[in-house]
Amino acid sequence: MRVPTDEDFAALRTWGLDRDPLASIKDYTELKNQLRWINPQNRDAHWAYVKRREEWIEQRNFDHYYRVARKPIERAKWEYLKQRKAWYTPPLEWDRFAAAAVTRILDLGCGDGDVTQRVMDHIAAVWAKKGYAGHDVEVVGIDLNESRVENARGLVVSPHPRIRASFATGDAVKEQLPYRAQHFDYVLNTGVLEILEDAPAEKMLDEIGRLAAKGVYIEDIVDHYPGGYPREHLPSWLNARGFMEVKRFFEFSEPFALEGSLDPLQLWPIIREQVLFAGR
Ligand SMILES: C[S@@+](CC[C@H](N)C(=O)[O-])C[C@H]1O[C@@H](n2cnc3c(N)ncnc32)[C@H](O)[C@@H]1O
Repeated sequence: MRVPTDEDFAALRTWGLDRDPLASIKDYTELKNQLRWINPQNRDAHWAYVKRREEWIEQRNFDHYYRVARKPIERAKWEYLKQRKAWYTPPLEWDRFAAAAVTRILDLGCGDGDVTQRVMDHIAAVWAKKGYAGHDVEVVGIDLNESRVENARGLVVSPHPRIRASFATGDAVKEQLPYRAQHFDYVLNTGVLEILEDAPAEKMLDEIGRLAAKGVYIEDIVDHYPGGYPREHLPSWLNARGFMEVKRFFEFSEPFALEGSLDPLQLWPIIREQVLFAGR
């Protein structure tokens, strides 16, 4: 990924997320899902992505890539990814995080903390809109990779004196995280289940089910890619863990286009994704 320029950021602004943060949900249709393969650049991007992922699987095993690899990131790239990923991690039901009864939120598999930052910014924005002074909210990010946890610690900035963030390493598949049952009001889990085979994915969902008192927000891939594990049946896995109120939407990883890509850095093809909010 090259260092993004002002023009790149300006291109992202044309996606209109400031006017409608849930635009990806409205942009998606089943017809567009078929039509995206008419786009020649998207077909090329798709095959390049398949090749990249095949090479990645051959050269780096899971433990190396996710547990021990060093992954420093510059602020400009982090900022670009934060804004870029906002398209497919829309703030579905995030207003709930700003309610007075909510004091603890977990971002599980938080990576570099850019989604964590957006959650904190969202809560502060809802409070500001209501003219509410705020209450103490603790946002915790946990990730397997020490280097990414270091990135999050260095880059995430609290937007409000009552919202505090902390980041730690942890493995939500191999162990119970050091919190009692239902310690957190809400848990977020974005881009994580898609990299896990069924058994570890179920373990992670068990841990989410144990920790989340009120609900969970999930973003996950639905297209099939090497080393990716799409799960159309995710709502039933959530029901099985006591999350009965499931809202699920399909979306693309960027705004639909019949030609080219609206992402100036062209990070991925137009991938089909799902975003879910599941409440108790
Ligand atoms: C594709 S990244 C997504 C990061 C971030 N949530 C986002 O939306 O950009 C997947 C993350 O899951 C983390 N991860 C994988 N297995 C995990 C586990 N067992 N426990 C905690 N984190 C895990 C990886 O280290 C990685 O940072």
